[in-house]
Amino acid sequence: MESRTTPTLATTALCRYMFYLLALLALAGPTSALTSYANDFVDPDYILAGNYGPNSQAAQRTIVSWARELALKGPWTVTSKNVSAPTGDRHTYMSWAPYWWPNCTSAGNTTELAAEEVWTTCPYESRDGLFNPDGRLINDVGNFQDLSDAVLYNSIAHALSNSSSSEWSKNAVNFVRTWFLDEETRMLPNLDYAQMIRGPGDRKGSRTGVLDLKGMTKITSGLLILRKGNSSDWTPDLDGQMNAWTKEYITWLETATNALEEGASANNHGTFYYNQLAALYLLVDDHDGARNVTDTYFRQQYMTQIEANGEQPLEAARTRPYHYRAYNLAAMITNARISRYASPSGPNPFELKTEAGSTIQTALDFAIETSASTSDEDSYAAELYPNVAAVAAEYGDDSGKYANYLKEKEPEYPAEAWFLWNQPLSDSGLSASASLTGGSSAPTASSPSVKNADSNGAPAARSIGALTLLGVLASAVLLL
Ligand SMILES: *[C@@H]1O[C@H](CO)[C@@H](O)[C@H](O)[C@H]1NC(C)=O
Ligand SMILES: *[C@@H]1O[C@H](CO)[C@@H](O)[C@H](O)[C@H]1NC(C)=O
Ligand SMILES: *[C@@H]1O[C@H](CO)[C@@H](O)[C@H](O)[C@H]1NC(C)=O
Ligand SMILES: *[C@@H]1O[C@H](CO)[C@@H](O)[C@H](O)[C@H]1NC(C)=O
Ligand SMILES: *[C@@H]1O[C@H](CO)[C@@H](O)[C@H](O)[C@H]1NC(C)=O
Ligand SMILES: *[C@@H]1O[C@H](CO)[C@@H](O)[C@H](O)[C@H]1NC(C)=O
Repeated sequence: MESRTTPTLATTALCRYMFYLLALLALAGPTSALTSYANDFVDPDYILAGNYGPNSQAAQRTIVSWARELALKGPWTVTSKNVSAPTGDRHTYMSWAPYWWPNCTSAGNTTELAAEEVWTTCPYESRDGLFNPDGRLINDVGNFQDLSDAVLYNSIAHALSNSSSSEWSKNAVNFVRTWFLDEETRMLPNLDYAQMIRGPGDRKGSRTGVLDLKGMTKITSGLLILRKGNSSDWTPDLDGQMNAWTKEYITWLETATNALEEGASANNHGTFYYNQLAALYLLVDDHDGARNVTDTYFRQQYMTQIEANGEQPLEAARTRPYHYRAYNLAAMITNARISRYASPSGPNPFELKTEAGSTIQTALDFAIETSASTSDEDSYAAELYPNVAAVAAEYGDDSGKYANYLKEKEPEYPAEAWFLWNQPLSDSGLSASASLTGGSSAPTASSPSVKNADSNGAPAARSIGALTLLGVLASAVLLL
């Protein structure tokens, strides 16, 4: 907008805009800004039992609001991209290796090369850490991330709705059908062209591309909630179709060269490979298979991933160690949670020590002592918080160390979605604070009831959380 000319008008508009937004938000109650956590496995039985920890209303509101926000972006399909994979099949999943750039010096006079010709004519070279922005021309990877979050949060919102069918289950089912199952829009069950390196000759995906589908773990959590919760929208026919798709994809993960190489990676890539594969065994209802997969991870990679002091040497060696420590921790926790779910009476991986004598807790304790050092890393600070919550829930937090850490770093953490499924975890008394008590918990047509509302909490003050207020200010500024 050209602006500057009429500050009074702009200010008036801003005031009115903010008034309406504040009024709207006060009714809805505060929530946290939408975040895509690196990975997690959310136990469907815990979600369906509905006995959430105390003071989880803010987290439930956040989940419902994220479910709604994500649903507005869907459905997603690999067939929406304008660039087709070398197979020529629209149903092929494809992403481009993010750090690879064309070098056209040997390609003759390139002035008139169309973008598509550059992709197949010029050799591509790696410039580590430098993102090639033309990767955004295709977005299967970003779409899949949105899909996986949308399925997870809509499925949890459905469970909160205490009904056999809801707008939330309809959303989740629609999104899964569109991406995986419907004839017109389905994705073929392979990642042969994930993180593909462009250039002349044979263009193939890379092993690192297998990471693109790590969100299968979230999708599995969501679908198990729908299946075990007897959602009438997730029909036996769809369940059978999804099982068939998943079995084909499991075969790809267990036989394709790129997949096997990714599975052999010693660092977070290996950890995430096992997240996916183990979750998919749960999805086809093979708990022994899932346990076998996580056992393989804990017998192999895990053993050397954490040193005696808790450092993760392979992640520390990367360009952004704080981020990679948190990232691999999320994947380790996810493998351990899948293992617990698959065989609750088996050995507990959370107690398992690496060759250096450390556990997942040792790694987390090291990570929280090692602050994000560069300004680049500051933007990753929050990535560690779900892991802090998970370690508090799995190992206990009698001293209050983890709750205090979270309270200091993120004063509204009980409004994080992860607060719901990382119980028990103290809310540090924050749920009673005015900023976290929010709107009415009465169910409405579009918003499921808030279960286990803490009846002796604070009066229903209708104020706004600081995070939400920041969001409002940011969007108001954008309007100017
Ligand atoms: C581009 O490729 C040419 C050879 O064709 C090579 O001499 C040159 O160093 C490359 N440029 C970069 C930036 O890598
Ligand atoms: C490259 O091709 C363009 C367009 O055909 C032409 O104008 C230009 O002179 C050529 N450059 C060279 C160095 O041949
Ligand atoms: C694909 O092409 C259509 C039509 O030109 C365009 O609107 C759309 O933004 C393109 N999609 C992407 C991801 O570039
Ligand atoms: C869930 O729904 C059932 C049947 O509609 C009802 O009996 C039950 O009280 C509800 N539970 C909650 C927690 O709302
Ligand atoms: C789903 O249906 C099965 C079989 O009828 C039943 O045992 C189970 O309790 C139901 N689960 C829920 C969450 O309603
Ligand atoms: C367990 O995993 C190994 C690979 O680590 C595989 O060779 C074996 O077939 C699996 N066994 C079962 C029962 O799934």
